[in-house]
Amino acid sequence: MKAIISEQYGTPDTFALREVVAPVPKEDQVLVRVHASSVNFGNLVLLRGKPFPVRFVFGLTKPKYNIPGGDIAGIVEAIGENVTRFQVGDEVYGDLSSSGWGAFAEYVATDEKALAPKPGNLSFTEAAAVPMAGITALQAIRDKGMVKDGQKVLIHGASGGVGTFAVQIAKAFGAEVTAVVSTRNVDIVKSLGADHVIDYKKEDFGSLDRTYDVIFGVNGSQSISTYKRKLKENGRFIHVGGSESQMYQTMLGPLLSVFGKKKFITFLQRANQQDLLVMKELIEEGKVKPVIDRTYSLSEIPQAFHYFQEGHSQGKVMITIH
Ligand SMILES: NC(=O)c1ccc[n+]([C@@H]2O[C@H](COP(=O)([O-])OP(=O)(O)OC[C@H]3O[C@@H](n4cnc5c(N)ncnc54)[C@H](OP(=O)(O)O)[C@@H]3O)[C@@H](O)[C@H]2O)c1
Repeated sequence: MKAIISEQYGTPDTFALREVVAPVPKEDQVLVRVHASSVNFGNLVLLRGKPFPVRFVFGLTKPKYNIPGGDIAGIVEAIGENVTRFQVGDEVYGDLSSSGWGAFAEYVATDEKALAPKPGNLSFTEAAAVPMAGITALQAIRDKGMVKDGQKVLIHGASGGVGTFAVQIAKAFGAEVTAVVSTRNVDIVKSLGADHVIDYKKEDFGSLDRTYDVIFGVNGSQSISTYKRKLKENGRFIHVGGSESQMYQTMLGPLLSVFGKKKFITFLQRANQQDLLVMKELIEEGKVKPVIDRTYSLSEIPQAFHYFQEGHSQGKVMITIH
């Protein structure tokens, strides 16, 4: 089979397209014929081996996962003898970032717990946009933000992979959503249901006279003190992404008691089958749909990564494989 091989940490140009032996599923594994995958920030971390502490998980001097790729959508080709949840021919989707990666290939053998049935109303390419970005947004909004009906929510950096899901999921949870984006993305977030849009090229949300129950920092470099000022008294700030300095301030602030009653939380999403099922339901109910920016082939993965790492994608950057 054809696969992208990553043998050293570095730039997207270190990826090589090679012919390798197709995997055989172990007892509790499912062999998936991969139709599509996508690019996430987690792929960049694995590619670069940075920040350095991730090497204690990914391999100290070179990546121990030779075939990268986390998001997946495809068809079950074979199953191990202990697999109970899937049958040959099932359409599945999932996030392999906690189970050995391997999605940038024609076939991958993976743990059945990493997979769920694909949303029936999505193509394979659309479905592969959902797992990592969609579940990050879901866990941020439901578990960390604890967003409730009628709350005022601000999403800073709402036009990328995670942000476009965040707008729709916050709306599905009943929030009044304000999206902060650049001029070229105003229409996209309006079409996803944002009630208010702040164009950061024209207005500074920090200087506007509005406060929020929950703020999600997805992208952008606003200071933590601005976010604190823009929160209501018992408000919550969730650091999803953005700068490392925002992340450290969010982590250290509560220890130094500088945020008062306001909660500042940073978190890492955890892939799991239950949340894939929640996303499937939201999608099939028509409450959430993936936003796709560009699509590349397996051999074009270096170009896909060069584009993604510029940081200006509008929704998701996809890889089609079969
Ligand atoms: N916590 C977790 O578990 C987790 C999981 C996944 C991702 N993340 C993090 O979440 C962040 C977003 O990931 P992603 O995949 O959604 O990224 P992405 O798709 O690359 O985001 C790109 C989008 O961000 C917008 N943007 C860039 N700079 C901005 C600014 N200053 N203000 C507002 N918008 C801005 C861009 O539009 P313009 O350039 O036009 O503004 C573009 O639409 C990353 O930092 C990533 O590390 C965290």
